[in-house]
Amino acid sequence: YQRQVKTTGFPIYLDVCITARMGEIMTTRIIGTGSAVPKQVVTNDDLAKIVDTSDEWIRPRTGIRERRIAAAESGTTDLAAEAARMAIEQSGIKPEELDIIVLATSSGDCCFPNGACEVQAAVGAVNAVAFDISAACSGFVFALNTVHSFLSAGIYRTGLVIGADTLSKLVDWNDRSTCVLFGDGAGAAVVRAEGTGVIGLTMGADGTKGDVLKCGGRTTGNFLTGKKPELGYMSMDGQEVFRFAVKTVPEAIKKTLAGSGTELEEIKYFILHQSNYRISESIAKRLKLPMDKFPANLERYGNTSGASVPILLDELNREGKLKPGDKLLLAGFGAGLTWGTTLLEW
Ligand code: ACO
Repeated sequence: YQRQVKTTGFPIYLDVCITARMGEIMTTRIIGTGSAVPKQVVTNDDLAKIVDTSDEWIRPRTGIRERRIAAAESGTTDLAAEAARMAIEQSGIKPEELDIIVLATSSGDCCFPNGACEVQAAVGAVNAVAFDISAACSGFVFALNTVHSFLSAGIYRTGLVIGADTLSKLVDWNDRSTCVLFGDGAGAAVVRAEGTGVIGLTMGADGTKGDVLKCGGRTTGNFLTGKKPELGYMSMDGQEVFRFAVKTVPEAIKKTLAGSGTELEEIKYFILHQSNYRISESIAKRLKLPMDKFPANLERYGNTSGASVPILLDELNREGKLKPGDKLLLAGFGAGLTWGTTLLEW
């Protein structure tokens, strides 16, 4: 049917293929999670064979022991689809029930079609609109908040949110300052417009700090420039990223909690983007909270960018650590610079 959306100017009509309960504010509940990482384990000692580094340098500074690296024949979409299948299976829904798929990635396998459309085809979600968003390590949180907006507005009922990245193809494997930090992976959540779920969120961006963490795209190359297109690699001002994260994330968390009347102590877990164990420690310290409120898996996967929050969420879920009523605070932060939080009741 067609739904008229109220605007200040002329009315907009949306083709809505599900029956939304008009006028009723719904929230977004996670009803299934999944995750996938490549089989290939690469340890710090393995990296010491290709660049001048060592486990003694990497582990104390980052908390990373090993990461997973995708084989040449598997990419971001394969991992995203695997995580999505797991989340759909756990949710108990049929793929045809999905109305919207949003994939957060900064390392899609191709420029177009978008990865979300490839996932849609892979899982058979024939009724879903599908698109990607690019927000680096904030990606999953941005995607979840985006889908939540559609669900809470009554436009769609069931969504699939995925964070997937294979940054192994964007790092310069000769640059020891970045290549030791990242790994590949994907995480997914099926969400539905239901009674309890998302209760608060914050999102922000500061484009003036874009150079702090950057991966150049293709350089212009056409018949006018006479140049061949080249792919850029990732570059990072590590200390500036550190300063940004430990200042901005606690502020965003406090703002989210204040906005929903929630106390810090009510949160069971802070599921932070897994960038660096020392960043998580500093955030915990600034919030005056113990580290057991900050679960981590960085040691095993490194920084998987947009995938890190949903992989960790899926692990906690499958380990039975999340109980109905638990309050969780998800936080992503990274290139852009961007940051975002989602406060939800499990
Ligand atoms: N192995 C050995 N030596 C290294 C390595 C390495 N892998 N990388 C850098 N070094 C050397 C440098 O060359 C330098 O040597 P020099 O003193 O002879 O010039 C020395 O170590 C210190 O380099 P710094 O870059 O100053 O190292 P720093 O102490 O800042 O640590 C780190 C780097 C761990 C990245 C730190 O800046 C940090 O924790 N930053 C946070 C950023 C982060 O974690 N980013 C993740 C991605 S972004 C995100 O997800 C939001």
